[in-house]
Amino acid sequence: MKSFRGMTALVTGASSGLGSEFARQLSLEVSQLLITSRRADRLQALSKEIQAKSPQIKVCWFSADLSCQKGREILCDWLTAERLEIDILINNAGCGDYGLFEESQFDRIQSLLELNVISLTYLTRFVLPQMIRKKRGIIINIGSIVGRKPLPTCAAYSGSKSYVHAFSEALRLEIEGSGVTLTVIAPGPLHTEFFYRASRNDSEEKPFVPPFMWVPLEKVVHESLAAAKAGKAFYVPGFYTRIASLLHYLTPSFFLKPIYRMILPIHSRNDSSKKNSLRCSLPLQ
Ligand SMILES: NC(=O)c1ccc[n+]([C@@H]2O[C@H](COP(=O)([O-])OP(=O)(O)OC[C@H]3O[C@@H](n4cnc5c(N)ncnc54)[C@H](OP(=O)(O)O)[C@@H]3O)[C@@H](O)[C@H]2O)c1
Repeated sequence: MKSFRGMTALVTGASSGLGSEFARQLSLEVSQLLITSRRADRLQALSKEIQAKSPQIKVCWFSADLSCQKGREILCDWLTAERLEIDILINNAGCGDYGLFEESQFDRIQSLLELNVISLTYLTRFVLPQMIRKKRGIIINIGSIVGRKPLPTCAAYSGSKSYVHAFSEALRLEIEGSGVTLTVIAPGPLHTEFFYRASRNDSEEKPFVPPFMWVPLEKVVHESLAAAKAGKAFYVPGFYTRIASLLHYLTPSFFLKPIYRMILPIHSRNDSSKKNSLRCSLPLQ
């Protein structure tokens, strides 16, 4: 079991939700905490809050837009200029886009891929050589249960998180024995700003989620850090979410289609395809 004592941690997407909670819980153990996202006021308030509770550690914040290459470079240039070497990287910043893909705005999809895929890959590439040289490091990549089994109405998001899972699994095998570990966390639904931001009309619109699958942020982060310390490759926080995600993963998509049609806003086209399918007596495909 690894310890975080004396380490420097970088948390992306720390201005809200899961990222803020990672920062709070890490601050109880690390000696230096670096937090980043775009909203400087939130980062400043969080670093003040953490510094007040943990005066023994050093907290620094840096505002950067990780969905563009310039933002990613500015962050890494700052780390280099300040000689800040990262021992723990929490690749948490991420966003969604909820709705039919054919109705999506491509610039939104592009930013999503830039943030969820490119930024995570870029930061991992940036810190990994330092970690391997020092023979110590922990990377936590935040995936999702829909990265394991894709969900209609979240096509690009599911695809981006599938990348996180595949990339992380391959990289973990590459770095085995180097002293650096990589853990993918696949959370289920969380009460954060995520759904509001993923919605295309500034609402809390989201897929139906059974109440037992919502896991409190504190628990998600606590279990995630324990999984990373134990060197686990993959972890789904929350017992019921773990079971539900496993069942979802093992069930062939064919059997899930009727359920998706009941709980997801994909009815319009399916209403007409339903008529056709009844007429043809063929299974929906
Ligand atoms: N909520 C869920 O149900 C759920 C489920 C599974 C996985 N996840 C994953 O968990 C992670 C955290 O999400 P969350 O639920 O905590 O959502 P959240 O509250 O919306 O937090 C997202 C964080 O990412 C940052 N961010 C967004 N766009 C950015 C950009 N262009 N550049 C830099 N930072 C950016 C946001 O800060 P700024 O806006 O200040 O930049 C914010 O701090 C994401 O990877 C998400 O995919 C969430």
